[in-house]
Amino acid sequence: MSDAMAAEFDTVAEWTAQVARRLGRDYYLPAACRGSGSPAALDWLISALELRAGDTLLDCGAGVGGPAAYAVQNRRVLPLLIEPLAGACRASATLFGLPVVQAAGSDLPVADHAVDAAWSLGVLCTMQDQLGLLSELRRVVRPPGRIGLLVYVATKQIPEHDLPEGNRFPSSAALAELFDHAGLMVIDHRSAAGFVAAPHDWQWREDEVEAEIKRVHGHQEAWTLAEQQAASMADLIADGSVAAGLFSLRHRSVPADR
Ligand SMILES: C[S@@+](CC[C@H](N)C(=O)[O-])C[C@H]1O[C@@H](n2cnc3c(N)ncnc32)[C@H](O)[C@@H]1O
Repeated sequence: MSDAMAAEFDTVAEWTAQVARRLGRDYYLPAACRGSGSPAALDWLISALELRAGDTLLDCGAGVGGPAAYAVQNRRVLPLLIEPLAGACRASATLFGLPVVQAAGSDLPVADHAVDAAWSLGVLCTMQDQLGLLSELRRVVRPPGRIGLLVYVATKQIPEHDLPEGNRFPSSAALAELFDHAGLMVIDHRSAAGFVAAPHDWQWREDEVEAEIKRVHGHQEAWTLAEQQAASMADLIADGSVAAGLFSLRHRSVPADR
């Protein structure tokens, strides 16, 4: 993983939890969803995956743990967080006390069909082995295979130097092929564009946390690297080169021939 990705997903993830703890409990969820999981997008996924109290939910690439904590708060699911970076693991454990395992999404330390549902939000584009992630999600979720994704999709060819370091955005066609090869089918799909806005008090707290991280750590290299990553991503979304999509998937009964 590049220094810039480690700065964004490891160092700043841990700073986020530290700052949220100082500001208070009301800040935990807005701070820990880190941009990709607005409440409306999470509500859509919770409903599309038909999550119920007592369902086991694996969150792959869980980051600071906000989306899983939101599902616990709203549906009383039993979460298992998977996250490769130690700082992010510590962040979700510190804020929410949720069970977290440090591992990569392409090699999940989870038995076949062990969980009722899984989601992975804003993770696919950060991974080299994108088919590995989808195949592993298919393996660990029991039939019918309730799987949710938030994926950033390229709408056009993006020059290498415009990409946030370490990110690769599949086109819609490439994503459809990945789903097919992983033995997954799309049940429902929405553009996430309509789900971006968070309630005013949520957004306000998210901004407060960001401002406090900048105040305390703004002089450090990791903060600068993470800001550059976030700015590249924001530019790609703003000019329409990348669009976020929400997907509800299930197992396809007859896997495609490889
Ligand atoms: C944009 S963040 C999203 C975090 C969280 N899912 C959310 O929506 O708030 C991407 C996350 O993917 C994680 N990640 C990167 N490479 C991964 C891999 N190979 N397997 C699983 N997660 C990975 C990063 O560490 C980071 O926490």
